[in-house]
Amino acid sequence: MAGRIPHSFIDDLLVRVDIVDLVDSYVPLKKAGSSFVARCPFHTEKTPSFAVTRNKQLYHCFGCGAGGNAITFLMDYRHLDFVEAVEDLADFVGVQVPRESGGIPTKKNNSTEIFQLLEQAASFYVEQLRNNVTAKVAVDYFKARGLSGEVAREFQLGYAPDSWDALSKRFDSQKLIDAGLAVAKEGGSSYDRFRGRVIFPIRDRRGRVLGFGGRVLDDTLPKYLNSPETSVFHKGREVYGLYELLSKNAKPGRIVVVEGYMDVIALAQFGLGYSVATLGTATSKEHMELLFRFTTELILCFDGDKAGRKASWRAVEAAFPCLRDGRQVRIMQLPVGADPDTLIREHGLEDFERRISSAQTLSDFFFERLSQGLNLGEMEGRASLVNKAKSYLQKLPNGIFQDLMQSKLSVLTKVEKLDFFQKTTTLKSLGHKQKQADKKLSPVRVVISLLLQNPDFIELFEQKEIEWSMINLAGADLLRQVVEIIAQHPNINQSQLVESFRGQEVEKYINIMMNHDFLISGTGLKEEFSGAIDRLIQQGKDSRFGELYAKQKVKGLSEHEQQEMLSLANPK
Ligand code: UTP
Ligand code: MN
Repeated sequence: MAGRIPHSFIDDLLVRVDIVDLVDSYVPLKKAGSSFVARCPFHTEKTPSFAVTRNKQLYHCFGCGAGGNAITFLMDYRHLDFVEAVEDLADFVGVQVPRESGGIPTKKNNSTEIFQLLEQAASFYVEQLRNNVTAKVAVDYFKARGLSGEVAREFQLGYAPDSWDALSKRFDSQKLIDAGLAVAKEGGSSYDRFRGRVIFPIRDRRGRVLGFGGRVLDDTLPKYLNSPETSVFHKGREVYGLYELLSKNAKPGRIVVVEGYMDVIALAQFGLGYSVATLGTATSKEHMELLFRFTTELILCFDGDKAGRKASWRAVEAAFPCLRDGRQVRIMQLPVGADPDTLIREHGLEDFERRISSAQTLSDFFFERLSQGLNLGEMEGRASLVNKAKSYLQKLPNGIFQDLMQSKLSVLTKVEKLDFFQKTTTLKSLGHKQKQADKKLSPVRVVISLLLQNPDFIELFEQKEIEWSMINLAGADLLRQVVEIIAQHPNINQSQLVESFRGQEVEKYINIMMNHDFLISGTGLKEEFSGAIDRLIQQGKDSRFGELYAKQKVKGLSEHEQQEMLSLANPK
């Protein structure tokens, strides 16, 4: 059983990772001043207010308030729990997560159990294909479709026997249901979801089984049955075949995106080991972001029918926000009635690779599609094209590709001065609002914010020799907590500082204060800090004076209190 992850490891991980690289691998960032910005992935917006700062190792959205360190980002963006996010981050940095031995064993979390069960089910299906006499139909089916034993092993193809309880009699019903392997019956029991089907296990890029696809052996419907969405399986974010692809080649030059399980497998069998399939869903932006982590070129290769062409267009639409410079999407049209499986079996690898090389560029495909039905010889047709293209081009990340697409539109429509894009991706407009807001910030908030942002200011803070009993102000407790953490960990960085508040009620405020932009720098910051401490001390005194004053009116003061009030009224 896995032990706790040592805290020192998490600290170390946060020092090793560069949050800019991490976030950039999911959300393309653009440099703007001292930070990197993008349109926020956590809410919908037209202009970027999502900023990632290298020296703080933090991200923050000025629009929706999302923010945190590298771990928070993975938790929010990939919907991971804390441990999964740490594991993922370790993966990204390329280190192993150590576990404390002997510590209090942590309760295995639900997803660990689901993964174990899915792995057991995958082995069970493989074993059935090999040894169950009734699996002969499945073996014959694979043979009839020309599958080699080798590729069947590589993809761990299996067989779900034609039974209602092959799994249900072996494993716990509720767990099978949670894993998407069984369907609930009244009374708490369950029946097997996959029956009498050949089975395709779907793995994530780390090789963990997330779910299955199952195909009938005849013409019954539905032809394919897939695992439902579960807590570990999200079709919009996973593709079939990625693990097998990456096992052969961690950095493929290109990845071919196809529609079906059988397409991926046939291509692999014929030596084209760099294809993946979406799981019966449209190709999404998340799919492409995932794939662009491993390659710079995607070839969309959908069936040569009407549905396939429609799927290409939708995929191209989804691709726009992902197309930062250096990334490319091309569209490969297949002959009507063909799919990659039949095509490579009929014409072989070389022919298929030739088709890939001559696949249409995204820009050609896009303008061709968009101009369909428009007469570009007429002003109206050209105006209509500009209008239709505009919203797409605005979705492209700023860069050369966006400029080139705009130029191409200019040429096509003979409109010279197209300028759709705000080139200044700065957070300047927010600056003004903030300057005004600064005036209203309480000194406690200013001191906490500046300390969080500059842990080394602790020295200056300590020189002021604050008497905590005198600071009876809102937020003073939090200030004290921050001071103590920094005093105990002299070299703490900001991302570690944020980490030490994880799960606490104040976590959100810590993030906000950590990201408050004072719009001053250098010695100005220190002066601001020092001034705020003085104001804070003064406020503490004022508040104490007020307290004593009120008490005096109501029930009078002790001699000691009178002395105190006097000294507060006449500062030395
Ligand atoms: P296809 O029907 O094109 O699949 O559906 P295919 O791979 O060519 O099928 P065969 O085995 O060669 O006849 C493409 C993909 O759409 C999903 C599956 O993921 C399939 O691989 N699909 C299709 C379903 O989820 N359910 C269905 O009923 C059909
Ligand atoms: Mn097919």
